[in-house]
Amino acid sequence: MFEIDPSGLPRHVAVIMDGNGRWAQQRGLPRLQGHRVGKDSVRAVVETSRRVGIRYLSLYAFSTENWRRPPREVDGLMTLLRRYLATEIGRMIKHQIRLLAVGSLRRLPPAVREALRSAIEATKRNTGMTVILAVSYGGREEITRAARAIARRVRRGDLAPDRITASTVAKHLGTNGIPDPDLLIRTSGEMRLSNFFLWQLAYTEIYVTDALWPDFREREFLQALAFFQQRQRRFGQTSAQVERHVIPDARRLLAAAGRGGNGSGTLVAGGANASAAAPQSPDPRRRSLARAAPLGSLAR
Ligand code: FPP
Repeated sequence: MFEIDPSGLPRHVAVIMDGNGRWAQQRGLPRLQGHRVGKDSVRAVVETSRRVGIRYLSLYAFSTENWRRPPREVDGLMTLLRRYLATEIGRMIKHQIRLLAVGSLRRLPPAVREALRSAIEATKRNTGMTVILAVSYGGREEITRAARAIARRVRRGDLAPDRITASTVAKHLGTNGIPDPDLLIRTSGEMRLSNFFLWQLAYTEIYVTDALWPDFREREFLQALAFFQQRQRRFGQTSAQVERHVIPDARRLLAAAGRGGNGSGTLVAGGANASAAAPQSPDPRRRSLARAAPLGSLAR
């Protein structure tokens, strides 16, 4: 297995689940069979995330562009999503998982919308982890919608144009209140964002694996986390600047969290990794990363 340092976990992992169709085609099966097996990978990644202590997991389940697929495949995916919500709700409650959704949910068939609404309602008080399903989601559409909402506020006189900042835009996105992803995983080897979280991924580390989504399970997910822990996150600064601050800041955060911070553990060995680099972030929400990461959750 891979050595995962519980104090250096990404707070938010986003996943582009790709390769279901190819997985099925390689086996002479209908594409929908790839999506069905992909549903089991969703469960594996959700439950592994919960177990290791990831706080937020975003899954790109259906894009605005996916509406252009053959109707049979779209219908099959909608049915799968509805069934997933119906069958997983009990497990989500058991594992203290809160569900959220982003995207143009109005375009979804009423039964899927209702299943989503009821799963979101039933899990809204769970505090163990948040799963964000991106359904009928497109990054450009989300930013365009935010621009319209901001323009309306300006027109009403609620907001002066000079006061519009990056944080104003972020507050008008579907992900308002959710920290930006620290790690993006894309399966099936494609090197593109496919209109996913265009705003939110500005400083995200990107991990692309050749594994097709139906084959992406606990082991592959832990491998992605191990990759993340090797990265040095600089947020626009130089390596020298980051290295100068990382270790003292990491010690201070650990001490504040009552974990000693004597630099003897794996955190300092992985010195410039994600959590340790968090104090350098221009985003103040990231600064609490080392504190937020639970200890020893892999052992459970
Ligand atoms: C991309 O693979 C995958 C999708 C468009 C849908 C993702 C859906 C699932 C993983 C299953 C159900 C999800 C949930 C949340 C229950 P692709 O079809 O584009 O694969 P290809 O590139 O090989 O054709």
